[in-house]
Amino acid sequence: MRADVEYSPVGQGQGLGLGVSDFWLYVWMRRAAVVAAHVTGLGLAVLISLLSRPGTSLFSWHPVCMSVAYCLCMTEGVLLFSAEGSLFCFKSRQGKVRLHWFCQTLVVLLAATGVCFMVASKNVSERPHLATWHSLLGVGTVVATLVQSACGVCLLFPKLLLRKASSPRLKLYHATCGLVAYLLATVTVVAAMFSDWFQATVKGPAWWAFLLLPIFPALVVMNQITNAYLPRKKITS
Ligand code: HEM
Repeated sequence: MRADVEYSPVGQGQGLGLGVSDFWLYVWMRRAAVVAAHVTGLGLAVLISLLSRPGTSLFSWHPVCMSVAYCLCMTEGVLLFSAEGSLFCFKSRQGKVRLHWFCQTLVVLLAATGVCFMVASKNVSERPHLATWHSLLGVGTVVATLVQSACGVCLLFPKLLLRKASSPRLKLYHATCGLVAYLLATVTVVAAMFSDWFQATVKGPAWWAFLLLPIFPALVVMNQITNAYLPRKKITS
């Protein structure tokens, strides 16, 4: 069995039929979008962490862990492969893959810690579990993150797979689960902004600004993953 997949190169605007000046405008717009995604991801993690006043309650650690995991670590873990610009100066693919691994491990550890704090907080206050859309979407996000991480582990240690699965196919599964996990995380963070706690903490125009912030990095990450992994040819096995 042979899997034959071709990946379209990232960020080359090829096949768009643009003139030279339009092409450079297109390249600079893409760069600006990636820079803005870095800023909004970091900004969200910092702002949510400050708003939750970590240490004041068991609950306060939940927004800190979750926003640092998904808004910062997962965003950076994907954007470091961006052709338009990463915060990290690695040029080699191996260096990028290692850092990606580090970021994704942090995501899993922080997400597990954040969920534990939330569950403990609800147990102490004797409030029901999984009673809101945010909590249900949150469980979906954590499950997608674990599936994506499992695919990543199999890519790093191919011998773990009993049956020989083709590497391009596994890469595609890893990227697809990653995309689903990132989009679910975005919807979960947006849903958190409808919680009583968040609406009591942030009000008026600031609340609307917060609501839009997570959407921006999600669009950039979605564009990057689909550009990099959308097969130009069908998988032939
Ligand atoms: C993608 C990131 C996140 C995930 C996966 C997630 C997951 C969860 C889960 C599973 C619960 C329910 C726990 C239970 O029922 O025992 C929960 C509750 C909660 N989370 Fe998050 N969370 C995330 C981000 C956030 C953020 C950023 C905030 C604050 C801005 C937040 C605020 C809350 C609040 C207020 C609750 C309690 C009310 C409710 O159940 O909806 N979460 N979260």
